[in-house]
Amino acid sequence: MCGIIGYVGPRKVVPVIIEGLRKLEYRGYDSAGMAIIEAGKLVVVKKRGKLRELEEAVRGNAYEATTGIGHTRWATHGRVEDRNAHPHMDCKGEIAVIHNGIIENYQTLRSDLIKKGHAFSSETDTEVIAHLLEEQVDAGRDLLDAVRGTAHQLQGAYAFLVVASRFPGRVIAVRNLSPLVLGVGDGEMIFSSDTPALLDYTHRIVPLHDGDVVEINDRGYFFYALEDGHAFTRAPMIVQWSAASAEKQGYKHFMLKEIYEQPVVIRDTLYGRFDVATGRVDLKEFADSPVPERISIVAAGTSYHASRVGKYLLEQLARIPTEVSFSSEYRYQQPIVQPGTLGIAVTQSGETIDTLAALRLQRQLGARVVAITNRPESSAVRESDVSFITQAGIEIGVAATKSFMAQLIAFYLMAISFGQRKGTIDQEASLRLGGELAGLSQKCEQVLEYVGVMEAIARKFYQVHDMIFVGRGVNYPIALEGALKMKEISYIHAEGYAAGELKHGPIALLEQNVPVIGLLPRGPLYEKVYSNLQESNARESPLVILAESTDATAQGLASDFIPMPIVGELFSPVLYTVPLQLLAYYTADRKGLDVDQPRNLAKSVTVE
Ligand code: AGP
Repeated sequence: MCGIIGYVGPRKVVPVIIEGLRKLEYRGYDSAGMAIIEAGKLVVVKKRGKLRELEEAVRGNAYEATTGIGHTRWATHGRVEDRNAHPHMDCKGEIAVIHNGIIENYQTLRSDLIKKGHAFSSETDTEVIAHLLEEQVDAGRDLLDAVRGTAHQLQGAYAFLVVASRFPGRVIAVRNLSPLVLGVGDGEMIFSSDTPALLDYTHRIVPLHDGDVVEINDRGYFFYALEDGHAFTRAPMIVQWSAASAEKQGYKHFMLKEIYEQPVVIRDTLYGRFDVATGRVDLKEFADSPVPERISIVAAGTSYHASRVGKYLLEQLARIPTEVSFSSEYRYQQPIVQPGTLGIAVTQSGETIDTLAALRLQRQLGARVVAITNRPESSAVRESDVSFITQAGIEIGVAATKSFMAQLIAFYLMAISFGQRKGTIDQEASLRLGGELAGLSQKCEQVLEYVGVMEAIARKFYQVHDMIFVGRGVNYPIALEGALKMKEISYIHAEGYAAGELKHGPIALLEQNVPVIGLLPRGPLYEKVYSNLQESNARESPLVILAESTDATAQGLASDFIPMPIVGELFSPVLYTVPLQLLAYYTADRKGLDVDQPRNLAKSVTVE
């Protein structure tokens, strides 16, 4: 939700801001803007629309500034208009602020400031920050104290950056609940909402904690406590990602590139965690703790779907009672955490505010909590007892694909490891399960060869208004995920159902323009799902069926058949997910939609 960037160093800052915003645009793309200190004056340029509008607006201006801040917006307060784009300024046009988050008490602050004579030019919550800073600076405070004095008056979630013409060469940042990372370069410092935007400059990063106030200037970076202003330091950590991994590398879209990276993601997430020869899984993350008696998982969106698969695996393989909650609901359902409960927070970004809040509550209620996340530098890692870092690499496409795959693998590893330690998985079963795990990456490569098939099916159905995805057991969450992918990037109304539920209502929706996509791997539920698909066939719905390549019966029933590699039912989610991602991708691409930046969405949802 909103991307922010701030720079102090020897480079001309405008291209630094534009390139940084390009890398952060996935966080929000309603409008973009920047504030720079040019020849001692504050210059603000901001435009509604995508980043290219801002680029157009600054093109041809020979700005020399080397200090500045930039913002890409995902609107919360105020319509998508130039005046609501960030940065926001004080009355005199000397102080500029960019912000990610929501200031909950902005209305009270705004009324008070208006009474004091401040004139507002936007509908945003953010603008109050600029006017509060003006009050502080007018009272004779230095910019750093002004930022602290202002932040003390704010309620809500925020990460904001400030520049001011009276204080050239300085950018000041504060963090409370919204993500912010500092990149420490050689003679240059850069703030960003997310790490990928820093990688062109440095691999040394310092994630800010809640309550940190940080100044960057030509002497370096300086940390202060928001509460009492005392100075302290935080050592940088080194991130291994390459700048190239945040590029499209010849693919038309990030999403397609990320779908193709999944075989490697499977290999990398398994690497060093299990022994192919014995099938033994060793997770150092849990070495010091007993096998949990029960598990409570919190997650949102795609991570929630991975968690639903996780529940199935943990219960089947390790016989551990497991519940899964939407993180946005968890806090409001008066959860009961019994002794021996392991909390699991699943979040690609590690910054989803609902999931962080649920994680905190789990800990408060006495659970030990593990974060399954793709981002070692994230808040989820800092706030949990232990973290399981998935190895999906940087994911830029707003629609999560490879991170979902990595989360699935994490759950297989956890369930097998707990099962082996508990004794619900014996040596023979370990070998069988290990064999399945070891074969997944290669089978995933095989599935990616169906690109042409999925493209053809997308061509056939891209104009429909509704689609139904069905699966049962461990593949029910995959039906949910397939529908979510379709909805979020193609804007086709899609629903995922447990196949057996169709007859309890949704079957009324079926007709010849409503394709049903059925997941039909071999296994104990095969006959049941097959019957459910026949019921759909009888209502004239076109049937797209994913089943084993040798399954002539399924092929006979399907109007479009996706031949899948042979895999144990329990492991089928890993493979059956991929064609659904491709179907959503090609449908959206065929419709000419912006696959990587679908309307109204943002990759990391840092507001409640
Ligand atoms: C998935 O395609 C979506 N972009 C979204 O549902 C996402 O999974 C959700 O917002 C959770 O994000 P997280 O994993 O970073 O917490």
